[in-house]
Amino acid sequence: MKRLLIVALASLTAAATATANPDFGDPARGQRLFVAKGCVQCHAVRGAGGRIGPDLGRSGVKGSFYELVAAMWNHSSAMEEKMKESRLLRPKFVKDELSDLLAFLYFLNYFDEPGDARSGKALFAEKHCIECHAIGKEGGKIGPRLDALPRGSSPLQIAQNLWNHGPVMVAAMRARDLQVPTFKGNEIVDLFAYLRHQGQRQNARAFTSAGNADRGRRLFAEKSCARCHTVFGKSGIGPDLGEAELRGSVTQLAGTMWNHWPVMSGAMQSMGMRVPVFHGEELADVFAYVFISRYDGKAPTRAEGQIVYTHKGCASCHGERGEGGIGPPLAKITAHESKEEIAQRMWNHAPEMSIRMGTRRMPWPRLSAEELSSLIRLLTEGWPEQATVAQKAH
Ligand code: HEC
Ligand code: HEC
Ligand code: HEC
Ligand code: HEC
Repeated sequence: MKRLLIVALASLTAAATATANPDFGDPARGQRLFVAKGCVQCHAVRGAGGRIGPDLGRSGVKGSFYELVAAMWNHSSAMEEKMKESRLLRPKFVKDELSDLLAFLYFLNYFDEPGDARSGKALFAEKHCIECHAIGKEGGKIGPRLDALPRGSSPLQIAQNLWNHGPVMVAAMRARDLQVPTFKGNEIVDLFAYLRHQGQRQNARAFTSAGNADRGRRLFAEKSCARCHTVFGKSGIGPDLGEAELRGSVTQLAGTMWNHWPVMSGAMQSMGMRVPVFHGEELADVFAYVFISRYDGKAPTRAEGQIVYTHKGCASCHGERGEGGIGPPLAKITAHESKEEIAQRMWNHAPEMSIRMGTRRMPWPRLSAEELSSLIRLLTEGWPEQATVAQKAH
């Protein structure tokens, strides 16, 4: 377990995030908290760690800040029970601790799961790569040999080469009536694991560089992605990359981008643009930017927040407009706080709230990511004027 966590740490510290998303916590510090706060006693990260809770490197929680917090909130009571059984203290968080921990959990999704070189070998034939590229004694000669990749090539660097050679390669495919290959799930990771294994004659390391999100933000404009895309905003002819369903690791993201090659390169040509070429770590940087910008999730509306606040029973203890009751006056306490601070307060006070709910026979209020995000927006911005509330109530 130590080894795995250390490898991840080395990549995480390379991820400059400061201006790409000022709210983003420090994932390296979060990684240390994951151990220090005892999460690792029950949760593994890709196989390394405890077995009582789900593996958080593989679990279904793969979304924004709000999805992560909602998962922790919804499982709060079950976790607390297990903590009691294991005689562990339920951790509390101060200052930026929860924020850092969430940054770490969010980043776990960024890294590839180890690829399966054997299924990669099968894919190399299935996707017709073998008709143009040789590996060992087998394969065609139309494209360059793919068994001598430089040592230590990361999957993302291979994806970058694939992208850069797109214009010539796709033309060659079309000349032979071959369909441009697309990738789903972990296919691209498996395929690249096979190529890396060939080139390096050793087990390929599982981790890629985390990229530099600040540089990526600049490159997003320089490489003209910004002419067609935004990340949460008004996009051009390409989809909003914040709203888009872009789950999966960074190499899977490269696979998704490649899948759109025919349409995208066509759109670029029709706009008189050349398909951008990436050097060094540039593609990694662009993806780091996109990935980190997606952390905040979609902007929620405050009116929805009021509905959630009432329906989930918060109002029954904290007052109709957060003026307080059995529970403290949230309108005063949480006004202008960041979403991280509010989430931290909710987590820290959950045990006490749970007891009060128990005595009033209220079920633990489960929240979806959307519900949580509108609720937090309400708590940070406060309740709108009375008139709007009356309108809402018809
Ligand atoms: C005593 C064991 C224990 C500890 C300590 C613990 N958890 Fe959990 N956790 C669980 C269990 C069990 C579940 C699944 C609960 C359920 O199924 O409702 C869970 C679920 C989760 C989930 C939801 C996963 C999913 O796939 O939906 C997240 C996120 C999570 N825990 C994060 C954390 C973090 C962060 C910490 C450290 C602050 C932590 N847990 C500490 C036992 C624990
Ligand atoms: C129709 C023939 C053809 C097929 C099929 C094909 N390629 Fe290529 N590939 C080429 C050619 C030609 C080039 C060189 C393009 C250039 O010079 O810009 C190339 C270049 C590449 C490169 C860059 C190599 C380097 O030296 O940087 C990679 C990586 C690559 N292909 C991977 C693949 C993979 C993976 C597949 C299967 C999914 C595939 N290719 C299918 C013809 C093909
Ligand atoms: C000329 C306009 C244009 C430019 C420039 C452009 N794209 Fe696209 N992009 C599109 C279009 C159109 C689609 C949707 C293609 C489709 O429907 O197949 C798309 C799709 C995508 C997708 C898949 C989204 C999804 O929902 O699955 C990703 C990721 C992406 N682009 C990333 C980029 C990046 C990164 C850059 C900069 C290097 C870039 N694009 C530059 C037009 C563009
Ligand atoms: C059964 C009553 C009850 C319900 C229902 C309830 N709370 Fe609480 N809440 C409390 C009490 C009591 C406290 C103070 C707990 C403590 O002192 O640890 C509290 C504390 C809090 C705090 C921390 C305030 C601080 O001082 O830091 C937040 C934030 C909060 N609740 C939000 C919510 C939200 C959001 C909901 C609805 C999903 C909700 N509560 C539902 C009783 C309740």
